[in-house]
Amino acid sequence: MHNLINTTDIERELSTKAPQQILRYALENHDNIAISFSGAEDVVLIDMAYKIRPDIKVFSLDTGRLHSETYRFMDSVRNHYKIDIDIIMPESLAVEKLVKEKGLFSFYQDDHKECCGIRKISPLRRHLLTLDAWITGQRRDQSPGTRASVPVIQDDKAFARENDVLTKFNPLANWSSQQVWDYIRAFEVPYNELHDRGFVSIGCEPCTRAIGPGQHEREGRWWWEESTKKECGLHAVNMDKPS
Ligand code: ADX
Ligand code: SF4
Repeated sequence: MHNLINTTDIERELSTKAPQQILRYALENHDNIAISFSGAEDVVLIDMAYKIRPDIKVFSLDTGRLHSETYRFMDSVRNHYKIDIDIIMPESLAVEKLVKEKGLFSFYQDDHKECCGIRKISPLRRHLLTLDAWITGQRRDQSPGTRASVPVIQDDKAFARENDVLTKFNPLANWSSQQVWDYIRAFEVPYNELHDRGFVSIGCEPCTRAIGPGQHEREGRWWWEESTKKECGLHAVNMDKPS
């Protein structure tokens, strides 16, 4: 299905709506759509979408470097909702070449771009070729530097096939972390146990750490790099430059 819609008009209409209404719109207008699930608090999207469409498609990018708690959590989500989760792997030859040439922790010296490119961005690009639309858990409050104006719906020009449209929904864009957690508590949604140990934003194990009181959640990610660089490229469209 080619989704030749004017996302600006729809964004205007959807921007004041609740995440559930945005999800309903997304699911009613796109058959070939999936949730991109990181294994963190974006689990609320699965809970909300499941209540609209129980056979909701979900995928996770398995970088090979996630916490074991995150792997266990992904499996418990799978069992809890009785849904399949497509686990997307990086290309093995590219990973082998990287670690042979630079070792397993090259990101601490070189920055995270190369490793994220191989373990997250290329697999995402490959998987998005199979979809017409995707749904993410991005929120504006997650990163004042890079996500402050994330819209609830956008044309994802960074990952669209040539001459085609890929629509990206961010139903939680206007929600705060507090609202997400209120939802998790109210509906007894399962969550990653790392959140009980000071982890707020959760990514790969070597590149994520717990934060202390008063720290912004993004400070727990790629902490050895400058704050302006704290995006891995999954949301390249935010930076207004395709990766
Ligand atoms: S990241 O770009 O810095 O890694 P972040 O952890 O804030 O992203 O998560 C924002 C959203 O990106 C998640 O809600 C999810 O939709 C998507 N995302 C992040 N990591 C993954 C992953 N490993 N697999 C699938 N989706 C992911
Ligand atoms: Fe590699 Fe770290 Fe990026 Fe994960 S977050 S893909 S380990 S650089």
